[in-house]
Amino acid sequence: MCGIVGIISSKEVTRRIINSLKKLEYRGYDSAGIATLVDGDINEVKCEGRVEVLEKDISKFNLKGDIGIGHVRWATHGKPSKINAHPHSSEQVSVVHNGIIENSTILKKFLEKKGYIFKSQTDTEVIAHLVTEYLKKNSLKDTIIKVLKKLHGSFALGIIFKDQSNLMIGAKRGSPLAVGYGPNENYIGSDSYALKSMTNKISYLDDGEFCIVKKDQIEFFDTAGTKVNKKVMNLSKDEIDYDKGDYKYFMEKEIDEQPSTIIACINEYVDKHNKQINIYNFPWKISSIESIMLIGCGTAFHSCLMAKYWMEQNTNLDVSVDIASEFRYRKVRFKKNCLYIVVSQSGETADTHAALALCKKNKMKTCAVVNVIESSIARDADLVLPIYCGQEVGVASTKAFIGQMLVLYILSIKISFDQKCISKKKYQDKIKNLLTLSNSTKKTLKLDQKILQIGKTFAEAKGSMFLGRGYSFPIALEGALKLKELAYVHAEGYPAGEMKHGPLALIEQGMPVVVLAPRDEYYKKTISNMQEVIARGAKVLLVTNKNKDEVISENIWEKIEVDQLDEELIPFLMTIPLQKLAFYSALEKGYDIDKPRNLAKSVTVE
Ligand code: M6R
Repeated sequence: MCGIVGIISSKEVTRRIINSLKKLEYRGYDSAGIATLVDGDINEVKCEGRVEVLEKDISKFNLKGDIGIGHVRWATHGKPSKINAHPHSSEQVSVVHNGIIENSTILKKFLEKKGYIFKSQTDTEVIAHLVTEYLKKNSLKDTIIKVLKKLHGSFALGIIFKDQSNLMIGAKRGSPLAVGYGPNENYIGSDSYALKSMTNKISYLDDGEFCIVKKDQIEFFDTAGTKVNKKVMNLSKDEIDYDKGDYKYFMEKEIDEQPSTIIACINEYVDKHNKQINIYNFPWKISSIESIMLIGCGTAFHSCLMAKYWMEQNTNLDVSVDIASEFRYRKVRFKKNCLYIVVSQSGETADTHAALALCKKNKMKTCAVVNVIESSIARDADLVLPIYCGQEVGVASTKAFIGQMLVLYILSIKISFDQKCISKKKYQDKIKNLLTLSNSTKKTLKLDQKILQIGKTFAEAKGSMFLGRGYSFPIALEGALKLKELAYVHAEGYPAGEMKHGPLALIEQGMPVVVLAPRDEYYKKTISNMQEVIARGAKVLLVTNKNKDEVISENIWEKIEVDQLDEELIPFLMTIPLQKLAFYSALEKGYDIDKPRNLAKSVTVE
């Protein structure tokens, strides 16, 4: 995680670095810092906390400079504190880093023996001292080549030098780094979004590369120091200005935006008139796909799991799912006609990106379901299926989850029809049903007041459980994740049928339990499981869908009913009350809803 930015110009840079850091806060927000070069001196201002704190501190110090680097941190080595905040500096250099230096302990010992004194507990500080040490006997370029060779692990780096007022260094291995071209000034940044207010001309470093950035020139080199040419990409000029509008929290806004993001996504993939799905850029014959592997992390993993249920239901394919951090290190048997689908909102998640790289290395067919189309994952996959839900700012993923599920559902019915697993009539019926989804989602959003009250109970709970079978199981996992992440309440998502194999022992008097029981083939089974937890004292919130038959159960604490829809689409509706439940529970506790503790929006370290 962590966000880095650097600017070299003939104009003041401090204000602009701060602005870019604000855009990078989705990568980390536990501390922040900036270093600029003024008359041969490196001046640093660092703080624990958000960029807004840094901004205030900077105004006290009147920090100036026309070359500088900045950083927002998500702590890996050393707690969040002013001392551990980046940049980390030696007498000679100042460094910002995103990633993890895995051999930092060995390097630290080596440097301490040489007399270097460490101020922080970070892995990054070794880079500042290592560069200083190599500069004693090497040219700047050779120093960088040698230092990068010494570092194990992943990094994106920005470095400025006390006695080099005309350049800064950018380097990348594992973590992303963009380079921007401006008018008589140039930039480095963790992503193009951080640089977009300054330029729309961007290049991306590939793994192992570094660059020497001057005001009027950027040179790129590979690991060995050989010059490389880079493609300059022209990004769209529109700067996304995404604000909260009348909402107090981005998450609240993003939950409410779901009906319109559903419409936006459907408009991209569905020909409403002819009732067919268009995925124009599919690079292989759909008939040649024999199996599917879906890979993601966190919420994205849950949408993968959801897709497994749909794909198994609608196609004859073998469908597997995996968590990216597991997949990337397992001895995977790659299958020739398997489609490897990686799912990631940010498109920058380190483990998911590594899983994609592994598939590519093994020459597999790869597809990325992403929100950020300029991301590393989108750039590297053979086929990109964007979810079109607009920028998601809240750390807790909401509309992106709905968008990921939607694209995967659309893909499942497309494959199903193209592989002749369903008739044209059934295919078109499914599309017709899909067109009603946005409206039902809108209605579900209105169940607000009730959930506000229920949220108070969950906020006070020591622990809770979310149960579901079939299509409701992935949603149970997602509901539990949301509650953990936002309200810091322990929550377990479980297949309802698994309860008696152990977790039932956790149920005690008054424990709030969410039971997801739509009127599908599992309904009666799930209701029986619900009775079993009620009998042991659980306070059950039942989430089901409207039906002419009353729920055949007593002693339910609360009930929420979503619309009646085709059962394959019910998971979309079931998700919404659970998002709201987590939101209201966190609100009740006064927690920071858009930036929960210990987390970051984009997880760029493994
Ligand atoms: O950007 P990605 O979709 O790859 O992110 C994956 C997870 O880090 C993410 O979904 C995380 O679990 C969310 N914060 C959950 O709300």
